[in-house]
Amino acid sequence: MTESSRNILVTSALPYANGSLHLGHLLETIQTDIWVRFQKLKGRHCIYVCADDAHGTAIMLKAEQLGLTPEQQIANIKAEHEQDFNDFLINFDNFHSTHSEENRHYSEEIYRALKKNGHIAEREITQLFDPEKQLFLADRYIKGSCPKCKAPEQYGDNCEACGATYSPTDLINPQSVISGATPVEKSSTHYFFTLPKFTEMLKQWTREGSLQNQIANKLNEWLDSGLQEWDISRDAPYFGFEIPDAPGKYFYVWLDAPIGYMASFQNYCDKTADATFDDYWGKDSGAELYHFIGKDIINFHGLFWPAMLESAGYRKPSAIYVHGFLTVNGKKMSKSRGTYITARNYLDHLDPEYLRYYFAAKLAGGVDDIDLNLEDFIQRVNSDLVGKVVNIASRSAKFITKGNEGMLSAHIADQPLWDQAIKAGQNIAEHYQQREYGKAIREIMALADATNEYFDSQEPWKLAKQEGQQQKVIDVSSLCINLFKVIMTYLQPVLPETAKRAAAFLNAPLEWPTEITPLLDHKINKFKALMTRIDSDKVDKMVEVQKEQLAKEQANAGSATKENDAAANTYEPLGEMIEYDDFAKLDLRVAKITDAQHVKGADKLLQLTLDLGFESRQVFAGIKSAYQPEQLIGKHTVMVANLQPRKMRFGMSEGMVLAAGPGGKDIWLLEPDDGALPGMKIQ
Ligand code: MSP
Ligand code: ZN
Repeated sequence: MTESSRNILVTSALPYANGSLHLGHLLETIQTDIWVRFQKLKGRHCIYVCADDAHGTAIMLKAEQLGLTPEQQIANIKAEHEQDFNDFLINFDNFHSTHSEENRHYSEEIYRALKKNGHIAEREITQLFDPEKQLFLADRYIKGSCPKCKAPEQYGDNCEACGATYSPTDLINPQSVISGATPVEKSSTHYFFTLPKFTEMLKQWTREGSLQNQIANKLNEWLDSGLQEWDISRDAPYFGFEIPDAPGKYFYVWLDAPIGYMASFQNYCDKTADATFDDYWGKDSGAELYHFIGKDIINFHGLFWPAMLESAGYRKPSAIYVHGFLTVNGKKMSKSRGTYITARNYLDHLDPEYLRYYFAAKLAGGVDDIDLNLEDFIQRVNSDLVGKVVNIASRSAKFITKGNEGMLSAHIADQPLWDQAIKAGQNIAEHYQQREYGKAIREIMALADATNEYFDSQEPWKLAKQEGQQQKVIDVSSLCINLFKVIMTYLQPVLPETAKRAAAFLNAPLEWPTEITPLLDHKINKFKALMTRIDSDKVDKMVEVQKEQLAKEQANAGSATKENDAAANTYEPLGEMIEYDDFAKLDLRVAKITDAQHVKGADKLLQLTLDLGFESRQVFAGIKSAYQPEQLIGKHTVMVANLQPRKMRFGMSEGMVLAAGPGGKDIWLLEPDDGALPGMKIQ
């Protein structure tokens, strides 16, 4: 098949329309955008669509809280999301909404097909209901005390304190998070997609090589432990599409969300006549279909979605490309820690291409989490892009502009070096194709290093002062400029704007057919700065603004939204799982707080003296916002007793006390019963 006859449709997951985009969303769209730009650069017919995911209870409640209709709310957010994506140079061919006629059409059509094929079951279920709001409550909208350990303020169906799982109806003193009312049990009819009927098909599909190994394994674990029927309906009031022939019943948001990929594509076809729907979605379509998603939503894309497509007679995805989560400075993105950075706040301070480059440098084809370490970010971008790549052009250009009126030499001064750069293109292309962007970047930077070393070894600045060496100076500089062209072509999917400026300087387009050709006897333009260094003050400012925004939000938040924020901050997705052996290394002991003091110059820390029975320890704990020192003296708590002592600004800290909570006034020390004795091991 020739490259130009390949038809490829690519999607990124549809962001929810209940809030602003953050850098985690951008990790995904930047990853996808680089891949799509690479396909296009290689001459493949590639279409990239996305949309806002506009349905569901959260969006309905958010609109209500803002005094808007859901339609107004999703229109505002869509405009904001589109602007943010655009400013991050995300080059969608179409960005649509799941609240659209196209999506209603396909959702109804697919549902009717599932029903006709006997894949929809109907039955009564009992759920908790908010009698005040007249609303069925999803698990996350119910809180109460854990039936097992009695820990207060537990949400939904599992306890964050003791790990117990239960039905939300078992919570002690359950409360609706939305209204505070005591929920009652109520039954209603629900519609279920008979997922277990697709087990065999899914077992085969997940093993066909279209999934990353880790993902195929995870899905197979679920397949082996037995699938359950999937509840696809919700009762009114709900913001979504009403189910055909079922008044008062709505499609659950996740039923019509992936269908939104189809809807956005249909909308694109109608607008451009560039493609037809059936060519891409028809059962025997020869087109390729790829979904880029985060690791939190693989069940929807790897089980429910292919099963729905199968039943409704559409093609299934060629592959699903799953990425890990973004952390900032090694921590989960969290508002309370100030590691939550919105897309807009970033854009207010920094160039989008810095982040595109940094993400590219760290992305691989697997599902590992990616850390945005702000120090490393500054250092890496400045040294690679400004110090290495742009430097090649700026130091060579002046010899061509001044010494030869902008004309590049007619031949290549060092053929092996040129050949090496061209040959590297094959590997680099393969790395892009495999989403191993980090490897691609390493090869590209190795070329930049080789080019700078070549320039240094030839010392054109010395030759320029010598009689009869003028041609050599021009030859050396011309080769470096041609190598710069190659490097910028390879970087074009990552840095589209800098690539445009480079093309203007080179007075030639940056194209990447199988082999890039050199510019010989060619006139280039005057060199202008292509990129500036990251100013670390701007990064600091961005972090500061984010913290201020959080403080403002918390001050403005009414009680209902505060609950939601607290929940969002406290219940972060689980990080990497540890082995039992890692856990067993922790020596957890009961400690008695015998003294607690303010720490001069520290606004969060208290200095605690902890009695372990056999010895006493000094520990600095960040709990000042929640406790006065005198409140603590005499209390028992739990400490990690075998943590290597750490030198802090205020002195040595010889352990760690265990506490939980969203922060501020709400930090709860773990306090064992009075019967506990200092030094006792926690079992
Ligand atoms: N609306 C659903 C997706 C429907 S797709 C048919 C959804 N929305 S989301 O806004 O919560 O997330 C959108 C995408 O962003 C998901 O792929 C999710 O994994 C990704 N990310 C959200 N937070 C992220 C990080 N912190 N890091 C990386 N990706 C993250 O899920
Ligand atoms: Zn519990």
